[in-house]
This record gives sequence, structure tokens and C-alpha cells, in this order.
Amino acid sequence: MKTLLLIGIGAGAPEHLTLQAVEALRRADVFLLLDKGPAKAQLLASRQALLAAHVPPGTYRLAEALHPQREPKADYRASVAELNAGKQALLEQLLREQVNEGETAALLVWGDPALYDSSLRIAQCIAEAGRVALDYQVIPGITSVQALAAAHRVALNEIAGSVVLTTGRRLALGLPADAESIVVLLDAHNSFLSLNTPGLHIFWGAYLGLPQQALIAGPLADVGPRIARERRALRERHGWIMDTYLLRRVRA
Ligand SMILES: C[S@@+](CC[C@H](N)C(=O)[O-])C[C@H]1O[C@@H](n2cnc3c(N)ncnc32)[C@H](O)[C@@H]1O
Repeated sequence: MKTLLLIGIGAGAPEHLTLQAVEALRRADVFLLLDKGPAKAQLLASRQALLAAHVPPGTYRLAEALHPQREPKADYRASVAELNAGKQALLEQLLREQVNEGETAALLVWGDPALYDSSLRIAQCIAEAGRVALDYQVIPGITSVQALAAAHRVALNEIAGSVVLTTGRRLALGLPADAESIVVLLDAHNSFLSLNTPGLHIFWGAYLGLPQQALIAGPLADVGPRIARERRALRERHGWIMDTYLLRRVRA
């Protein structure tokens, strides 16, 4: 039997790492690192820095592979399914070839593995396929959503209210009905600009926890266009961007 640890490493700041995650890092024999290419080099480097800071050198091995790219297709779910199949094949190969029987491998998962991340589903598929005898465990991490709320010093929910977590792609289809607080991830197209619901407030954050963290908050109608301009400028400057925002319907 081999063991795979899915370790949530937080959303950017090295200090997001929990004590449980540090203990898990030290348990691993092999780290599976998927390189997403030059644009995400900072993210790979931050994973390597975590290892250097918390795990004694010489006590672990690295197994690196190039992360498959998503082919853009009209059917988004189909293209994600294809990407995940490629990722599954790659991870299964690394587990077969680079992890010995009885050893523990670890994947360092950005934020928390339970939030918009395919690692858990992929680990389940590998274990169920049975070609590698695999046990997998999850170590929770601080999500970008928590980092956003903390940076803006805002509670995610109104008193006794609900919170919807969604994607930019879904927001572009319309604001979830009755939702008072909506957290949006994975928005590559400024979907907030398409909303014309009056009384919306936005709390936006990019590169949360990283040195280049940027925050803007205010009535959406006032600050929305500024956020769109800032996103474009930051993406050009850094070569990539990750941002998240909370939309709040202001109670009358
Ligand atoms: C594939 S999801 C992964 C979410 C991650 N598992 C988590 O727990 O935060 C990637 C999205 O998370 C958000 N995100 C992740 N890290 C972020 C950060 N440091 N700053 C702002 N947004 C971030 C962005 O919306 C990005 O498009």
C-alpha cells in the first residue's frame, strides 16, 4: 500500500501553513510537484520554499512532472474532464514509478483541497481504479476565501445569512437568486461588470497573502471598472493573476 497526502498549503502566505500541514510535510517521503510552466513559476517556487523552510534537507525526494494544459473548448466541463484525465494518468505514473511500496507521497494543494480543486477527485479515481494500492488523506488548508475575508476584515455572511460560493463563469449567467453574500473564484472575464443589480458592494483581492497582494472594496457600480483596469495592469506586470471577490447585497 502507498499513501498519498493531499496537503492544503494555504493561498499564498507561507504563514498560512497549519501545524498539521507541517507535521504532514515531515511525514512524506516523496513530493509530487506539477510544474505549470513559467507563468506559474512563482507558485511552484513558493511550494519549494515551504519544503526548504519546514522539512530537513535530505529526508525527502522530489518527483516533478509538467502539468497538462487545459485545451480550450466550447464545452468547459468536457475540457476540464479531459485535463483531469491527463492529470490522473500523470499522478498515477508518478505514484507507480517514483513511490515505493509502504512509502508516503504528498501533493501540495493550493488553499484547501476541498475548494475548486481536482486533486481529491483524482486521488479517489486512482484508488478506485486499483492499479496502485492507494490510501489517501486530506490535510485542510486556509482557502483564498478566508484570506480574502481576513484581508478586508469582513465577515463572509450577514447575521444568520447564507453564503454562496461560485465561479465567474456561473456569475456571468446571473446573480444567484436570493443570495445575499456571494464569493466568486475563477473569474477570468470580469463577470462582475455584467451585473446591474443595484446596491451591490464588492470586496476584491488579488494575490492574497503574496507580496504583491492588491485589495479594492466599495460599491460595485463605483469601483467595478477600476478593478477591471487594475486586473489587466497586474496581469501584464506579473504575467499571471489569481483573484477572488465577495459580492454583498446591501440590506435596506
Ligand atoms: C482552482 S481555484 C483553487 C482554490 C483553492 N483551492 C483555495 O482553497 O483557495 C483557483 C482560484 O482560487 C482563487 N485564489 C487562489 N489563491 C488566491 C490568492 N492567493 N489570491 C486571490 N485569489 C486566489 C482564484 O479565484 C483562483 O482563480
